[in-house]
Amino acid sequence: MRIFSLIILLSFSSLSFAAGGAECGDYGDCDEFKPQLLDNSSLQRGLNTFINNCYGCHSLQYSRWGRVAKDLDIPESILLDKLVFNPSVKTGDLMKGSFDKTISEEWFGVTPPDLTLVARSRGGNWIYTYLRTYYEDASKKYGVNNLAFPNTAMPNVLESYQGRQVLGCKQVPSFAKNGGVKRDESRNIITVEECGHLILEEGSGKLTVAEFDAMIFDLTNFLTYVAEPMRAERERIGWFVILFFVVFTALSYLLFREYQKDYH
Ligand code: HEC
Repeated sequence: MRIFSLIILLSFSSLSFAAGGAECGDYGDCDEFKPQLLDNSSLQRGLNTFINNCYGCHSLQYSRWGRVAKDLDIPESILLDKLVFNPSVKTGDLMKGSFDKTISEEWFGVTPPDLTLVARSRGGNWIYTYLRTYYEDASKKYGVNNLAFPNTAMPNVLESYQGRQVLGCKQVPSFAKNGGVKRDESRNIITVEECGHLILEEGSGKLTVAEFDAMIFDLTNFLTYVAEPMRAERERIGWFVILFFVVFTALSYLLFREYQKDYH
């Protein structure tokens, strides 16, 4: 009887695992992204990458040009000169995008979604991973597919920076049941061939791997800021609140000791 319930339990847990799937699709766990919202130059670089590579398809329709410029310390003249390509746009306007929604639907089958809140719905880890896991796949409309978002309708718009990525096999260390790396008699690590890994064709992109990762970091950082412009401010205020509690607790304790004296 006990074994029977154990089997039921096990099959349920494996079922829920299969249904939940990995956080980043075929990639498995997402790569980690930790925002740095006080780093204004990173946010500025992210905004620049966004306007030049993404804004053609994606709007940020819940944020205003002027607010972003103010938060990121960008002078209005530079904003209008270098980032706003449409002369009729005012700094108080919402960032509505520059693409005709009906045309994009025709091209991609779906309208490219607004990205103001995407860092909250998908999370920074997911975005940071998604933009780095495109690979060539001739069976797809745009010749590319994505590990974190399989069959995505979005083309690989940053390919010229990253270079050509394909799926291939490589030797990876094999692990024993106890989680340790397996070694042969002369202590060399035993490897096995594993396929489905991203392999970058060296020198096919304008940036090195580290430079491209940094570019995507800044872009994800910017999208995290846009999703919650108050966050940096909120965290700063949070520290004052904690400081207040510490000081307040210390003062109350001193007062408590003072009152205690009267009892004795
Ligand atoms: C040529 C048009 C186009 C460009 C340029 C483009 N995208 Fe997309 N993007 C799409 C489409 C279409 C989708 C919808 C994909 C789907 O649902 O399969 C999408 C989806 C996304 C998503 C997933 C949203 C979600 O929650 O499902 C993110 C994140 C994203 N794009 C980020 C970017 C970033 C960052 C850039 C700039 C580097 C960019 N996109 C440039 C067309 C574009």
